[in-house]
Amino acid sequence: MSGDVTIHLDGVPRRVPAGVTLAAALCNLEHLAFRRDLGGGPRAPLCGMGTCFECRLSVDGVAGTRACLIEVHEGMRVELTR
Ligand code: FES
Repeated sequence: MSGDVTIHLDGVPRRVPAGVTLAAALCNLEHLAFRRDLGGGPRAPLCGMGTCFECRLSVDGVAGTRACLIEVHEGMRVELTR
């Protein structure tokens, strides 16, 4: 797939390359803190292959979605975990 798609990152529309994982798209946008740990520290993707669960986000209303395992799509709604 080629071109760009629009995702909505905490309600803000952002253009990202089509055909990449959500984790890759967010890193490319320099959004490296995907969620916060219990102490409030930032957590970022580690493995990139679905095993560490550090990239969990809410995607299209589904909490706990691993961003490294899904491809971006037009209109995707992403809520960063605070
Ligand atoms: S980066 Fe490890 S599960 Fe996604």
